[in-house]
Amino acid sequence: PHVLLVATEVSPFAKVGGLADVVGALAKEFHSLGKGRISVALPRYNDVDRFLASQNLTIDKREELTISIGHQSITGAIEHFSYKGIDIYLIDQPHYFKRNGIYFDETYKIDYADNLERMTFFTKFVFEALKAIDLKVDIIHAHDWQCGLFPFYLKSLYKMDGFYKNTKSVFTIHNLSYQGIFSVEQYGILGVDWKYFTINGLEFYGHINLLKAGINFADMITVVSETYAKEIQSPEFGNGLEGIIREKATSGQLIGIMNGVDYEEWNPENDIYLPIKYNSKNLDQKKNLKLAYLKEKGIADPDPNRPLLGMVSRLVDQKGLDILLDIIPALMEQGIYLTILGQGKEEYEIKLKDFARHYHPNMMVSITFDIAESHKIIASSDMLLVPSRFEPAGLTQLYAMSYGTIPIVRKTGGLADSVTHGKTGFVFEPYTPEALLSIVSQAIATYKQNRSAWEKLMHNAMKEDFGWRKSALKYIEIYKQLMQTQ
Ligand code: ADP
Ligand code: GLC
Repeated sequence: PHVLLVATEVSPFAKVGGLADVVGALAKEFHSLGKGRISVALPRYNDVDRFLASQNLTIDKREELTISIGHQSITGAIEHFSYKGIDIYLIDQPHYFKRNGIYFDETYKIDYADNLERMTFFTKFVFEALKAIDLKVDIIHAHDWQCGLFPFYLKSLYKMDGFYKNTKSVFTIHNLSYQGIFSVEQYGILGVDWKYFTINGLEFYGHINLLKAGINFADMITVVSETYAKEIQSPEFGNGLEGIIREKATSGQLIGIMNGVDYEEWNPENDIYLPIKYNSKNLDQKKNLKLAYLKEKGIADPDPNRPLLGMVSRLVDQKGLDILLDIIPALMEQGIYLTILGQGKEEYEIKLKDFARHYHPNMMVSITFDIAESHKIIASSDMLLVPSRFEPAGLTQLYAMSYGTIPIVRKTGGLADSVTHGKTGFVFEPYTPEALLSIVSQAIATYKQNRSAWEKLMHNAMKEDFGWRKSALKYIEIYKQLMQTQ
């Protein structure tokens, strides 16, 4: 099949969270499997410009096109370049995409008011541009609410067009708590009949819901772990969409496929961001790396027997910051180092910075987005904290395991599917500060008092295979099945 992946984040070009890692890695894995052709489309942001410049990559084709959005005519361009053998198509429209953030203004932290218009433009433009450059695809695989209009437009507008007659859509939900909800006053932007504004279409409690558009119109829906596929059928995780999700599950249109690790990027043996590399046969080097990290952070004479606990995360409610903040004093009393990298909700940023000041130098906090630092923390730490309230898949616990960094996770979603308590990590269940404190204390005690048990954990974790192959093959199976249906 010829598959087009469409997303608003794709590593290494533009990234906010795990979505980027997944789309980037999937594209690479499909390409290396050689079972078809893979193309990727994303908007051309400033980040993309910076990446192109840093790698000396150049655009080899560009075609301008004007389309209508609401009552406006808008001109943009589709551009092509090749990256590691994969065809990348950029949608260039400076007014929509050359801003200082991808979804919201980085300074004011508020969503762009015209996000519906931006996503409508991106989607329609891709459909029109593929036709203009005569690029036929069998499958459009769209990701998250930002691309929820792809399955919708395919069925409502483009299926009638001979060019898209045989095209099918797959919609992957990476997180059901972000749905892309907009006021019905903006309906005109979509340029479609009001007949779609129903409970079986885009309507959600009187609003437009783009995630729902994706779910209702896609030929197949996937989510990023098996447990999450079950969880979202209940009101607790379904965010109001559990009803239609259950229907889709019953009709065989919903499946959970676990994310994997791109070992070209996340491998302790050749990680370009690490001053000291290691593998499971020379774990002493991991200890040296930790000491180097702590020295770099200004701890002159770090104690090798004190565990370093790390966390790399968006600082949002999903990630368990509230229960973590509650137990920081009790944790710091146990003689540990703690390092946290993240950005997000201001309240969490401020509280973390306050604690870091108070527990200086043993607690370190970086409120920024820094890929090099994310690798250093995941590699240098002895344990990685992922106490999420819910977690569709989660990637940092997977990365941690490949680095022999023991994950401490809550039993939910992809965390439950990937970490085995007592074998590859520590797993707790009740979402309470007490339960979190108790599991982290257990991990710290094991680390300090039972070296051989700890080494066993590290070896087990490093032996796990979270490569993309298995999951990529499952996606390919879906594409093939869809191509056989009418
Ligand atoms: P989510 O997609 O919900 O944010 P995941 O665990 O799937 O959670 O993926 C998060 C990705 O983003 C990981 O690659 C992680 O290393 C990265 N990440 C999160 N916060 C930061 C940050 N502040 N700096 C660099 N990378 C980050
Ligand atoms: C989302 C989820 C995360 C998942 C990522 C990639 O952002 O929050 O759990 O790993 O998407 O699929």
